Amino acid sequence: MANGQTPKLDKLDKGPWPSFVREIKRAAEKSPMSKDLLGLLELSYTEKIGHWKHGGIVGVLGYGGGVIGRYTDVPDKFPNVEHFHTMRINMPTGWFYTSKALRTICDIWEKHGSGLTNMHGSTGDIVLLGTRTEELEPIFSELTKEGFDLGGSGSDVRTPSACVGPARCEWACYDTLALCYDLTMTYQDELHRPAFPYKFKFKCAGCPNDCVASVARADMSIIGTWRDDIQVDQSAVKEYSDKGLNIQKDVCGNCPAKCMDWDGQKLDIDNRSCTRCMHCINAMPKALRPGKDRGACIMLGSKAPIVEGAQLSSVLIPFMKMEPPYQELKDLCEKIWDLWCEEGKSRERVGEFIKRVGMGNFLEAIDIEPSPYQVAYPRDNPYIFYEEYFEEGDDEEEAGEE
Ligand code: HEM
Ligand code: HEM
Ligand code: SF4
Ligand code: SF4
Repeated sequence: MANGQTPKLDKLDKGPWPSFVREIKRAAEKSPMSKDLLGLLELSYTEKIGHWKHGGIVGVLGYGGGVIGRYTDVPDKFPNVEHFHTMRINMPTGWFYTSKALRTICDIWEKHGSGLTNMHGSTGDIVLLGTRTEELEPIFSELTKEGFDLGGSGSDVRTPSACVGPARCEWACYDTLALCYDLTMTYQDELHRPAFPYKFKFKCAGCPNDCVASVARADMSIIGTWRDDIQVDQSAVKEYSDKGLNIQKDVCGNCPAKCMDWDGQKLDIDNRSCTRCMHCINAMPKALRPGKDRGACIMLGSKAPIVEGAQLSSVLIPFMKMEPPYQELKDLCEKIWDLWCEEGKSRERVGEFIKRVGMGNFLEAIDIEPSPYQVAYPRDNPYIFYEEYFEEGDDEEEAGEE
């Protein structure tokens, strides 16, 4: 509260686990902003009312995104959080940086902001919480001098993100870091100047384990996969079995496609039925690896439940080679953006747009052939018809039969 006492917050700080209250208190030793943030939160907990209001448009010159404006509605009580804007900083791809880079950011933030950071935001960015409008340009100039740039916010391409991919992970089916970096550089304009109906997120996952949760959080999920057969080292499979792994039950039994068989000597995989779920590969990493003909599955349309309910991405292109300069992928994105920017409603994510106009119409408008992979349960659903199966005049014939 205004007297500096925060009895309600103090209770949150008592448990054995790390507490955001403890962190804000630490920042408050140096930062009057963080001190007032504690007071404001305590007031909210007491009155059960949020004391933040959405800002007007705040930002840095030439950019429309990257800064999320916040003001308190009780600046008389807590003048130091009268402005409390968040800045999104484009994180290094795969979240690799040196401790020197981190110190640089923290020094800039302690000088100009509350000292509070969020490593990393749900968008992936480095999130710097709490600064005043007049500090934005000085911060921006210091950050860019050190090689950092703002990330996306608002109705633009959001900061693309990627799993660590081939840098640390043997499952990566394409170079997630290279693609993420390339998309970030290619779409600078779309990242910094919001001109879309709503946000558009790219997330690059190296394999179907999808460590960046792209299928749930990205408008475009780019998930590594393979077209040929899973590589099997039969003697290593046998070794797992000898060491006590129940292969029939725990590997074959959990295969969603039920396309594996173990006779005690040899593992047999019907690769044509495999859905590339990664289960067997995760279970026996020394014996199985993804195939050699690798690329990515392009999926579209996931979102959190802000305007409508949550949605997962659906398959758009079952397989695309993922090699620089990624022209096929970029052509696809631009077609989607053209259509969605023309026909989408304000604050309608591309997934909601597809739901509204229908997948069939969407595919036709962006000139993509329908494929059974775009149907959620093609094996269970016999009622799938594509126009190519109908001859011209079919309609009349049917009418004539009646
Ligand atoms: C009326 C008050 C607020 C509303 C309605 C609000 C709403 C939101 C929404 C909708 C998002 C998701 C943005 C997106 O990804 O598109 C978000 C993100 C976020 N907000 Fe707030 N917010 C409020 C206040 C605050 C305050 C006071 C703070 C910090 C003190 C805060 C910190 C954050 C952070 C850290 C994120 C995540 C940023 C990221 O992961 O990139 N918000 N907020
Ligand atoms: C008792 C209170 C709280 C609980 C139980 C809680 C719980 C959680 C959980 C479960 C997540 C998801 C973590 C994950 O990614 O798996 C999360 C994320 C987050 N929380 Fe809290 N939270 C609490 C309070 C707060 C407060 C007060 C703040 C800000 C001052 C905050 C800021 C955030 C942010 C920024 C994220 C997103 C982090 C990220 O995606 O990297 N939380 N919280
Ligand atoms: S998504 Fe796949 S490639 Fe990427 S880190 Fe996870 S397991 Fe590795
Ligand atoms: S990757 Fe999944 S679907 Fe394919 S064989 Fe292994 S367990 Fe079955």
